[in-house]
Amino acid sequence: MASINLKRKILGNTFAGEIESVGNEVKQFREGEQVFGYTGEKMGTYAEYLCMPENGIIAVKPSNMTFEEASVIPYGTLMALNLLKRVNLQKGQKVLIIGASGGIGSAAVQLAKHYFGAEVTGVCSTPGLEFVKKLGADKVLDYTKKDYLQSEEIYDLIFDILGKGSFSKYKKSLKETGICLFASFKSKKLLQMIWTSIKGGKKVVCSLSIPKTEDLIFVKKLIEEGKIKSIIDKCFPFGQTSEAHKYIEAGNKKGNVVITV
Ligand SMILES: NC(=O)c1ccc[n+]([C@@H]2O[C@H](COP(=O)([O-])OP(=O)(O)OC[C@H]3O[C@@H](n4cnc5c(N)ncnc54)[C@H](OP(=O)(O)O)[C@@H]3O)[C@@H](O)[C@H]2O)c1
Repeated sequence: MASINLKRKILGNTFAGEIESVGNEVKQFREGEQVFGYTGEKMGTYAEYLCMPENGIIAVKPSNMTFEEASVIPYGTLMALNLLKRVNLQKGQKVLIIGASGGIGSAAVQLAKHYFGAEVTGVCSTPGLEFVKKLGADKVLDYTKKDYLQSEEIYDLIFDILGKGSFSKYKKSLKETGICLFASFKSKKLLQMIWTSIKGGKKVVCSLSIPKTEDLIFVKKLIEEGKIKSIIDKCFPFGQTSEAHKYIEAGNKKGNVVITV
């Protein structure tokens, strides 16, 4: 008989809410303060109450966002920020983001466009196209309709979030010093990273993102400057969490989905 060891009993890794109480030694936060944050692999945010350490990934909520809007920010934005910093993206460079309607991709579109100043093309399937346009992508391409690498377009950076494509496939669409950035990768891509860093020219970069509190504070600033926004598709009440998951899994979401308590 098979058994499943469910180590994480409560899912969810991003949150926004009000501090109910603080420990005696807590200095940075106070009761009643509105905060947002990220619990990473520990999860546990699908809950009415959450206990966070003072030095966890938690910051004061951006003043120009509701709890719902702020709650969807941390995961994708922290990942995308770290990964894009890794490749030293420059103003005016051309970027292709594959997976642009997802958690990391939707943040990468906004950061690449409004923070790094790049020219952004986003790739996703039909339901997400409008959403990615609203985030600020200069162009959107539907991977279900045609091969997005068929055009003559040549990029400085191709950011493949799910890692479904390969360096050999992307090479022809990269500039001579272009970079292929993978958020998801196995040993073959890691070997290509080592090889291309020695050889010079077009490069593969595989990187793990380690979120930090200072990054979340920086993200709060970007939000307040209007460089990052949340587009909420649907909110589900706490009791309908499984419906929220079904809605996302059906593949029709046109923005972020939130669970409200
Ligand atoms: N490097 C790191 O530190 C790190 C950290 C966290 C996660 N990750 C990796 O990031 C990935 C998850 O990213 P996420 O949370 O942004 O995922 P997500 O929210 O599920 O988004 C996935 C995106 O990929 C698109 N997509 C699906 N199939 C595609 C295809 N065949 N061609 C092109 N695009 C396609 C989806 O578009 P449609 O919905 O329109 O189909 C959607 O935009 C995982 O592979 C995970 O391992 C890496």
